[in-house]
Amino acid sequence: MKARITFANTGIIAEAEPPASLLRAAIREKAGLPWKCGGGLCGTCRCYIEAGRENLDAVKPKERKHLTETELAEGWRMACQTFAKGDVTLSWKATS
Ligand code: FES
Repeated sequence: MKARITFANTGIIAEAEPPASLLRAAIREKAGLPWKCGGGLCGTCRCYIEAGRENLDAVKPKERKHLTETELAEGWRMACQTFAKGDVTLSWKATS
């Protein structure tokens, strides 16, 4: 079954075969999620998991370079390092 990834800021929904990269789905659907490197280096792709945290894979060491334990516990992830096994809704802080 496909994972349904909802990008709350723009209301765009992507469907992808699991494990589905959150960033790859965002790029494919032009969801507007900010990103630069795609490789866990820049920290631009930080996103907040609104729903479906239980459907994500484990936090990667690269994510810990950009997110504190508190942020991770709150539900922040790096979209380029995170894969969905099921339905997820995420948002991000708008950059000016
Ligand atoms: S896009 Fe650079 S860390 Fe994810």
